[in-house]
Amino acid sequence: MAQTWTPNSWRQKPIQQVPDYPDLAALETVEARLAKYPPLVFAGEARRLKSALANVAEGRGFLLQGGDCAESFAEHGADTIRDFFRAFLQMAVVLTFGAQQPVVKVGRIAGQFAKPRSSGVEKQGDVTLPSYRGDIINGIEFTEEARVPNPERQIMAYRQSAATLNLLRAFAMGGYANLENVHQWMLGFVKDSPQAERYRKLADRISETMDFMKAIGITAENHPSLRETDFFTSHEALLLGYEQALTRVDSTSGDWYATSGHMIWIGDRTRQPDHAHVEYCRGIKNPLGLKCGPSLTADGLLELIDILNPANEAGRLTLICRFGHDNVAEHLPRLIRAVEREGKKVVWSCDPMHGNTITLNNYKTRPFERILSEVESFFQIHRAEGTHPGGIHIEMTGNDVTECTGGARALSGDDLADRYHTHCDPRLNADQALELAFLLAERMKGGRDEKRMVVNG
Ligand code: TRP
Ligand code: MN
Repeated sequence: MAQTWTPNSWRQKPIQQVPDYPDLAALETVEARLAKYPPLVFAGEARRLKSALANVAEGRGFLLQGGDCAESFAEHGADTIRDFFRAFLQMAVVLTFGAQQPVVKVGRIAGQFAKPRSSGVEKQGDVTLPSYRGDIINGIEFTEEARVPNPERQIMAYRQSAATLNLLRAFAMGGYANLENVHQWMLGFVKDSPQAERYRKLADRISETMDFMKAIGITAENHPSLRETDFFTSHEALLLGYEQALTRVDSTSGDWYATSGHMIWIGDRTRQPDHAHVEYCRGIKNPLGLKCGPSLTADGLLELIDILNPANEAGRLTLICRFGHDNVAEHLPRLIRAVEREGKKVVWSCDPMHGNTITLNNYKTRPFERILSEVESFFQIHRAEGTHPGGIHIEMTGNDVTECTGGARALSGDDLADRYHTHCDPRLNADQALELAFLLAERMKGGRDEKRMVVNG
């Protein structure tokens, strides 16, 4: 079974979701150019993420993974990136405080450009055109010209990823993420947010703690961990030609790494064990995500785990479960039991977005209460099975969009038209994302208190 792997061995396998490039010579030229470009991330960083995720797999941490459904060339600006990062940091700090555990921070950003589609074509009126597959492949405008896959877009995606990553590294390491700024992250946040007061109270407690630590000599100047944070990038490894071009040997270990992002994942539509996407991913050493939907059987999952993580290395594999609020109770327990029975080490993460998409007033949307309900069930089921609810995977933005209904502001179907900006799936806005973080923090705190009660008898 274990045939030799090379960065292009996936090309011998059947493949789903491939764009139809009209000019294959142009595609080859672009891939050859990309193969000479500098890596976007380093192997050592991917290893660092893997060891942080290993702690999560062992129950000592929580994974926060979130960002755009699809990044876009049009919205590539400093403000969008900063607003996302700020909302993300707020969530992280709420979760760290709630879980009293390290939060592993992974953005769906700086590379999240390629989208799988349920249909290869889109119909509007009498016109049928190829579907939009993400800015790295074609344009979103409904014109014949825009929808032709254009390899030059891969170069643009690479450059945008590099610029985005550059700014994120500066924010994470250059002072913006300093815990002394915990109050400032609220500035410029959605005005009159129902979460503002709640956040301010928590920020007050953190500031008070910081003041105490300062009094005993622990400051952000002498303790970098107070002013810096490890922030990692991730995306779906869908466009394999692009991924292959950025696959490099790490000179210290001799191993192959995807250098397009720290973590990459396999989508629910492209996880056939004998197909190209699984083949590519098995050979690189990065931490991997695997999307698990209702059609995944327990045996199918175990087969994939053996292919993707034969050494059963903790931190290598994150199972991102996306069943839908009304399906999670049916599907999650059987997968957990199979994984536990076989002693496989995984991070269990909950994607409460993708199984809860509905159409309302001609908009794709997700009711916030269904998102919360899937998260609640995820926690309850893990508690009942005695396993660790290790993380959350969400589509979010730092902006004040109206894409998901509900939340403390009770967005209705009629509000969707106001600021519906997504290029693909509906995202939580900054307010809803923070509200979700507070709810999660409460659940984690609940779990902690329960454990303590057991210990104290
Ligand atoms: N370095 C720690 C961490 O990343 C503490 C920290 C610094 C932090 N800045 C942060 C935590 C911003 C959350 C958000 O966990
Ligand atoms: Mn999506």
